[in-house]
Amino acid sequence: MTVLALETSCDETAVAILRDRELLASEVASQIALHEKFGGVVPEVASRNHLRHAPGLLERAIRDAKIDIKNVDAFAATSGPGLASSLMIGASIAKGLAVGFSKPYLAINHLEGHLLSPFFRSDKIDIEPNVSLVVSGGHTLLVEVLALNKYRVLGRTVDDAAGEAFDKVAKLLGLGYPGGPEIERLAQNGDRKRFDLPRSMLDSENFSFSGLKTAVRYLLPKIAVISTDARDDKLLADLCASFQQAVIDVLVRKTIAAAKKRNVDLVTLSGGVSCNEELRKQMRERCALEKIEFKVAEPWLCTDNAAMIAFAASLRLQSGFVSNVRDEIDPNLALA
Ligand code: KG4
Ligand code: ZN
Repeated sequence: MTVLALETSCDETAVAILRDRELLASEVASQIALHEKFGGVVPEVASRNHLRHAPGLLERAIRDAKIDIKNVDAFAATSGPGLASSLMIGASIAKGLAVGFSKPYLAINHLEGHLLSPFFRSDKIDIEPNVSLVVSGGHTLLVEVLALNKYRVLGRTVDDAAGEAFDKVAKLLGLGYPGGPEIERLAQNGDRKRFDLPRSMLDSENFSFSGLKTAVRYLLPKIAVISTDARDDKLLADLCASFQQAVIDVLVRKTIAAAKKRNVDLVTLSGGVSCNEELRKQMRERCALEKIEFKVAEPWLCTDNAAMIAFAASLRLQSGFVSNVRDEIDPNLALA
């Protein structure tokens, strides 16, 4: 079974080809540099660049995979959530190919792509019940996964997503975009106990990160961390480490509590923020302590890519799900 998938929900144009469990090609063209100067993703610029990049990526993916496009069994694309004008590009291409080659079309929820990604390399293909934490630039979701297509959202952010908090704090500190990798790099040499930052909504399964961001903002004048001439690198590292630890504490604590409450013995972690080595390590350690199995995707699969969309599509196809090419993209597509 060969599936070709496109992912264009935000600012990454991606194409992947998956044959059974073997990834034949995975191409990602990032637009980060283009949007950086605007301080965020500009939808119009994103969609024009998806259109510019997609044909070349498709050609390259087919060449890398050494297949004939006629032998692709199904075409898939992310159909939401995301930016409407971006989603439209990938979905239109996949629908066009499906119609042109008379093959099935699969519309995939971007969040389902993330939350299934920890199973990408698993020998066992059936999805065991698990509590799944999806942490990206746009989402912070705690989900009870009962089976493929059976998801119950337990909690979500009431303000900023976890990745958004990393990005906004990085901006406050004068660091580059995306902020997560920058903060992680600086935090490596920092003292995570130096600053006492808030851990919000600990008694809820929802999340809130805007208070943490504001707490960092109020600290800045006191410690003059961004006055570039006299920038105190130790102070900056300590602040990054303290901020990162505050986010990790909340994510780990709520995920473990949710897993224990539902009596599941598997926790999965996905989304761009799960590239963070400290988060992976601390979640793994807490799971081991609680005798809960832990699965996280390899870092390249954590940020947006089309391999996770192809994987979700192939699992759906095997279970008999197909979509209608008349189904429209939905920028607010719900997971459950
Ligand atoms: O999943 P993703 O590529 O895109 C969305 O669907 O949003 O996630 C991007 C987010 C950004 O906010 C970025 O700062 C964050 O993931 N991120 C990280 C790290 N690498 C990426 N956050 C913390 N630590 C990292 N190492
Ligand atoms: Zn994503």
